Amino acid sequence: MSFDYSGKTVFVAGGTSGINLGVAKAFAKAGARVSVLSRRQEKVNATVAALKALGAEANGYAADVRDYAAVEAALQAAHGQFGAFDVLVSGAAGNFPAKATGMSANAFKSVVDIDLLGTYHVLRAAHPLMKKPGGSIINISAPQAFLPMNMQMHVCSAKAGVDMVTRVGALEWGSEGLRVNSVVPGPIEGTEGMERLAPTEGARKAVIDSVPMKRYGQASEIADCCLWLGSDMAAYVTGAVIPVDGGWALGGATSLGQGFEQLAGG
Ligand code: HXC
Ligand code: NAP
Repeated sequence: MSFDYSGKTVFVAGGTSGINLGVAKAFAKAGARVSVLSRRQEKVNATVAALKALGAEANGYAADVRDYAAVEAALQAAHGQFGAFDVLVSGAAGNFPAKATGMSANAFKSVVDIDLLGTYHVLRAAHPLMKKPGGSIINISAPQAFLPMNMQMHVCSAKAGVDMVTRVGALEWGSEGLRVNSVVPGPIEGTEGMERLAPTEGARKAVIDSVPMKRYGQASEIADCCLWLGSDMAAYVTGAVIPVDGGWALGGATSLGQGFEQLAGG
């Protein structure tokens, strides 16, 4: 199935690497004007060049999602250039494996500030700039949002909050014709997240073993779900938390927590 996003405007927060970059590229290939935001200017520049090479109109902003004023300024600039957002994807996140007592209070706070507060910042600043009715907001969550995992108290707490931002946003903004959903990737090939959580061949094999479909997912498979959620095909879907994970969230993801512990020597 192919989607036509010609004339549509898409903003991807955290869209300069990994899964979110795959999402940004998919919207660009489908014809959208795409804006991205992340901290590092060189990643932003490389992404904008890659999106333009796909034939899309594109722009990007270096900003930290923990800085509300910077996020708001970037969103307003993108809105000024490309117009109201048809689709907003919020996926900036941080992760490292650490026991609850093996990290400082500031380490826990850093992840909550990026994942949860950052998501709120992006949605709060984007809300007045979204197309209404018809806009679609997609938060990139993780299985940690509903499955407790060893060495992931910070991420589990933050991503559980992200899914509640999704649900409450769907409640409050549904009457405006704005939809809010979470996409929950499983373990995705070649990403920073899985490099951090399963850095060795043994760990990678353990992950694959824990997935009912016995393979890593591809960023393009997450992007496909986002293309659908942003389209009229999903016009009555809001407040949903949708795993795209080969069945990992059915239980395998939690069992892998022991793996994170061994890998980190905890
Ligand atoms: C314990 C750690 C740590 C570690 C950092 N800290 N790494 N503590 N174990 N491995 C502590 C630091 O000592 C510091 O605490 C605090 O965390 C903040 O660290 P900084 O480096 O100063 O923060 P910052 O530069 O803001 O970086 C944020 C970060 C970093 C989250 C720590 O890793 C980052 O920028 N990550 C972005 C990329 C990323 O993580 N991508 C993967 C996303 S995957 P003190 O007390 O010393 O000040 C994902 C889910 C994957 O989200 C799910 C797969 C299933
Ligand atoms: P990634 O490549 O590290 O992507 C994170 C993106 O967010 C980058 O563009 C990064 O760019 C940006 N970012 C990080 N901190 C930021 C901040 N404070 N402010 C602004 N931008 C920031 O990671 P990934 O593994 O592809 O993960 C992408 C998303 O998928 C995350 O939400 C993650 O939780 C989720 N997820 C991943 C997996 C997986 O298998 N990898 C599984 C489940 C869920 P800068 O460094 O330039 O800021």
